[in-house]
Amino acid sequence: MRQLAKTVMFFLLALVLAAAAAGGGGKKEENKAAGGGKKINVKFSHVVADQTPKGQAALKLKELLEKSGQFEVQVYPSSQLYGDKEELEALRANNVQLIAPSVTKLVGFVPAFQLVDMPFLFKSDQAAYNFYDGPKGQELMNTLKPHGMLGLGWWPNGSKHFTNSKRPLKTPADFKGLKFRTQSGGVLDEQFKALGAGSQTIAFGEVYQALNSKAVDGQENTFNNIDTQKYEEVQKYMTVSGHGRLDYVLITNTKFWDSLTPDQQKIFMDAVKEASLYERKLADDLNAKSFEKLKASGKMEIYTLTDADREAFVKAMQPVYDKYANVIGKDYIEAARNSK
Ligand code: LMR
Repeated sequence: MRQLAKTVMFFLLALVLAAAAAGGGGKKEENKAAGGGKKINVKFSHVVADQTPKGQAALKLKELLEKSGQFEVQVYPSSQLYGDKEELEALRANNVQLIAPSVTKLVGFVPAFQLVDMPFLFKSDQAAYNFYDGPKGQELMNTLKPHGMLGLGWWPNGSKHFTNSKRPLKTPADFKGLKFRTQSGGVLDEQFKALGAGSQTIAFGEVYQALNSKAVDGQENTFNNIDTQKYEEVQKYMTVSGHGRLDYVLITNTKFWDSLTPDQQKIFMDAVKEASLYERKLADDLNAKSFEKLKASGKMEIYTLTDADREAFVKAMQPVYDKYANVIGKDYIEAARNSK
C-alpha cells in the first residue's frame, strides 16, 4: 500500500514539473509578462492622423500600458494598417487588439450606435458625455459583447459640420442636388435625403481624394478632422452647424481580453481610464484650435447657422426621426435628448 502511495506521489510530482516546464500551459502561454518574461503585444489600428484626439489618446494609452512593463504597444495611424471596414474584421480576428472607430461604423453589428447621427439630438458636448457615462451609454457599449468585441470606453470627438465645394449652405434648400460622403449607415443617408441631397459611403482614408476629384461635393466632420485631413484645400465652404456628433468607442476583442490575467486586465483598464480622460479634454482643445486655424487660413468661406436657420434644419430633418427612432430605440433617444 505504502509503495502504491509513493508511486502515485511520484507521478503527481512529475506531472506538476512537466506543466511548469511547459510555461504554465495553454491560456497563460501568452501572458508570460506577469512572470517577467516576454511582453504582451498589442496592436492599435486607427484611421485618423496622430494630431487628433484619437491619435493622441492612442499614443497616451501606449505610454501608460508600456510603463506597466507588461505590454508592448504598436500604434498604426492614418489607415496605415487597416481602413474603416478592415479594422473591424481585423479586430474580430485578433489581428489587432485595439481600435477606436467612429461608432457610426458599428452599424452593421448594432444599429443603435447611429444614435450619434440623429440630427440635433444632444444639447451640448457635456450632455453627450453624461449620456455616455450614464447607464444607457454603458448599456449601448455592452451590446458589442455578443459580436466578440468589448467596449472599453467612450472617446468622444465632437460635433460635425458641413463642408462642400459648390456653394454656401445656409438653408435646407441649399443642399438640393449635392452629393455628400457618409461614414456608413442608413441614418446619414436619410439625413441627406431629407435635405434633397445624395450620399455615398466612402472610407475615411479615401475622402480627400473623393472631394478633390469631385466624386462627391461635400462631407460632414469635426473641425479637427477637417483641419488634419486638409479638406480646406478641396472644399470652398463650411457651415458651422453642429447637426450631429462624431464619437468613438475604444474596443478590444474578447479573445485577447480573456487571455489576460485579472491583474493584467486591471492594469489595462486603469490605463484606459487615464487615456480616456486625456482624450476627452484633448477633443475640446483640438477642435477649438482647429476651428481657429481653419478661420485663419482663409481658404473656406465659413457660415455659422443662426437659431432661426437651425430651426429650419431641425424641421427638415424630422423624417430621420420618423424612420429611425424605432431602429435606434426610443429609450436611447429619450435618454440622449434628456441628458444635460
Ligand atoms: C470619418 O470617417 O469621417 C471618421 O469616422 C474618421 C474618424 O475616425 O474620426
